Amino acid sequence: MSKPRILVTRRWPATVETVLAERFDVTFNPGDIPLGENELRLALSTYDAVLPTVSDRLPAAVFDGAPVVTKILGNFGVGYNHIDISAAKERGVAVTNTPGVLTDCTADIAMLLLLSVARRGGEGERQLRAGEWKGWCPTHMVGTKVTGKTVGIIGFGRIGKAFAQRCHFGFGMDVVFFNRSPIDPAEATRYGARQLPTIEAVLAVADFVSLHCPGGAENRHLMNAARLAAMKPGAFLINTARGDVVDQAALIAALKAGTIRGAGLDVYEAEPDVPETLRRMENVMVLPHLGSATEETRTAMGMKVVDNVTAFFEGRDVPDRVV
Ligand code: DGY
Repeated sequence: MSKPRILVTRRWPATVETVLAERFDVTFNPGDIPLGENELRLALSTYDAVLPTVSDRLPAAVFDGAPVVTKILGNFGVGYNHIDISAAKERGVAVTNTPGVLTDCTADIAMLLLLSVARRGGEGERQLRAGEWKGWCPTHMVGTKVTGKTVGIIGFGRIGKAFAQRCHFGFGMDVVFFNRSPIDPAEATRYGARQLPTIEAVLAVADFVSLHCPGGAENRHLMNAARLAAMKPGAFLINTARGDVVDQAALIAALKAGTIRGAGLDVYEAEPDVPETLRRMENVMVLPHLGSATEETRTAMGMKVVDNVTAFFEGRDVPDRVV
């Protein structure tokens, strides 16, 4: 039997590419150049499986205009708001993701952002590298203490829980969270956290607000101008979830007006485009979507895709099927 024909849209860790090449009739993207809408449409009419990442946009329009022969989109990533799931479902295309393996590393990046904005890490490094540090003095680059402060988590899934655990047990923080569905208080306590009934209740008490909910239509601009204004004066916003969860224009306005004190961001509304205003603000730490970027995690993500796609073509239960 001939091997399924598979397109991998970006470069993956070498060990995973080796396994893919052994198992499938695979086409790689040696130049690692993101595919455009037409190339993705062509891919869907050519390959049995397409393995996209968050850098590939797959709106409904990509599923139209040519017959779709692809049977599975094995997404390299847990978030899949770049794929129009209903369009995939309508065309009978299965979609899988990679939950579980990037939990710790994404929680770590959220912690890195929280500590960096509180203690002015980015600003300090920029000053020193520019040769502008004049030496120690009691009033130099004074930040905000983290221990004992309250962190408010929006979205208490795997990553929200891992972040809560770090904040409470690692940094002595009081942790509150909002989650659409109720979490058993005993379970919340295991992560050092307690659930509040509304997002507003969390915003009212949190010195740091960290977003851990999925992107996509249901959470688009969940942090809008009104909610940014409802944060405590002097509070910080951390976003490692998805750029569209925050109204970026409203965030810039809130930062300019001093409505909030700072922000730590790993994700943006129109990646890789990050507005210059945001890049120039000293009270904002900006990272280039590094949440899952460790050797261990990226390899584990790739191997999860391999497992999903292998199970699919062998007719077995697909572990991480979204549709
Ligand atoms: C994820 O897995 O969702 C990461 O953000 C990379 O896409």
